Amino acid sequence: MPAEKSFHMTPDEFRRHGHAVVDWIADYHSRVESFPVLSQVKPGQIRASLPASPPAQGEPFETLLKDVEKLILPGVTHWQSPNFFAYFPCNASGPGILGDLLSSGLGVQGMLWSTSPACTELETHVLDWLVPMLGLPEKFLSSGTGGGVIQDTASSAALCALLAARERATNYTSNQKGCDGRIVAYASTQTHSSLQKAAMIAGIGVENLRLIEVDKNFAMRPDALARQIEADKRAGLVPCFVCATVGTTSSNAMDPIAEIARVGREHNLWLHVDAAMSGTAALCPEFRHLQNGSELADSYTFNPHKWMFTNFDCNCFWVADRKALIQTLSILPEYLRNQATESGAVIDYRDWHIQLGRRFRSLKLWFVIRHYGVEGLQHHIRRHVQLAQTFAHWVREDENFELAAPVALNLVCFRHKGGDAANQTIMDRLNRSGDLFLTHTKLNGNLTLRLCMGQTNTEARHVERAWKRICEEAERLTAAA
Ligand SMILES: Cc1ncc(COP(=O)(O)O)c(C=O)c1O
Repeated sequence: MPAEKSFHMTPDEFRRHGHAVVDWIADYHSRVESFPVLSQVKPGQIRASLPASPPAQGEPFETLLKDVEKLILPGVTHWQSPNFFAYFPCNASGPGILGDLLSSGLGVQGMLWSTSPACTELETHVLDWLVPMLGLPEKFLSSGTGGGVIQDTASSAALCALLAARERATNYTSNQKGCDGRIVAYASTQTHSSLQKAAMIAGIGVENLRLIEVDKNFAMRPDALARQIEADKRAGLVPCFVCATVGTTSSNAMDPIAEIARVGREHNLWLHVDAAMSGTAALCPEFRHLQNGSELADSYTFNPHKWMFTNFDCNCFWVADRKALIQTLSILPEYLRNQATESGAVIDYRDWHIQLGRRFRSLKLWFVIRHYGVEGLQHHIRRHVQLAQTFAHWVREDENFELAAPVALNLVCFRHKGGDAANQTIMDRLNRSGDLFLTHTKLNGNLTLRLCMGQTNTEARHVERAWKRICEEAERLTAAA
């Protein structure tokens, strides 16, 4: 029989093109500093450069890679640049990227233990490794009542925690009957917006997510939390959940977890700890005090895809009582039944999150941890914190600038004393220059610049240059005044 016609890439072609792609990525990382950090394209510019219709006939792979260079790169904001100081880091690394490539190569869909036992067991194992690595309570270990799972994002983790809290508070009836508008949850005015989204999706409603006031350091006030819970109970409502944050997005504020937990426990609230970025700092024992009180949490989450050199997406989510989570999210249609599940001897992670299908994400996390070792991870995290503290020192010493919030770890919130317009101009000019990328927030109503440290290859020289450029733009303003 003649060979059947095929359009597929052969293993040999894959090998050749694969080498070219890995070379391209290695070159990209060596020249990433040469690009403007923030993409300079106008809205619609990238689409306008693409053909209106898809190709009827396949094209040579070399053309694809050339088009990435020519058409796509101009529209890329270079998150991996050492001059990226915006939002929060989303740092990648060689081992992380290669682990992700292997995950694609294996092409596993690990919805059930039986659909790839290694996908489940490696994940459970790596999440167990991380518990002592981060100084988290033993109750999160899979050997006890708890356990960890990799989710796509901290937003999904928060949603799962809120759903489990809602179910627990309604004796597992709200999945069946829906919410009656009486369930309430608590966060602070500084909590990440994903909690509002979770309240929308969980059917709790944004009005029933109480945003508790914060103190002068932007941390939740436990006394205000207690007062709000009591008022809600008097009104016949059902408080079910509170989120405490280790390192808020806006200013890296640290909520007093232990005190929040004490208030929450009195009313049987589910305590979720969101340590999306700052959780990584707990790799270093000297920063673990920031998460004191997490031993009282029902769930805890952090994003290796922010600051732990594990390319997006990779969120770790632990629960103290996995039964509550599983009872909330488990559905078993006939077509997913299998002996391993029935035996009760395995974890089926499809019951631990929203979606059914799942990638083999633990590979990249495993690679990162094994490549760096705890020592290597600690080294780089300490270095980032040190660089941020040095930057904060320069701000403190400069008569034109001031710090706008405590600098607990790797985020510096600061502003020029010339007011909002001055800060806006400085930031816009810096970002337009392409030399670095900074973003802003509002603290006490004032526009505040944020410099967040954590890119894989950021060194002292990048931070020194960033400060020099900030001072130059500030001087330009003064000269023009
Ligand atoms: C404290 C905090 N929580 C949650 C998030 C949301 O993270 P993700 O993009 O993983 O949903 C972020 C980052 O944006 C964050 O800083």
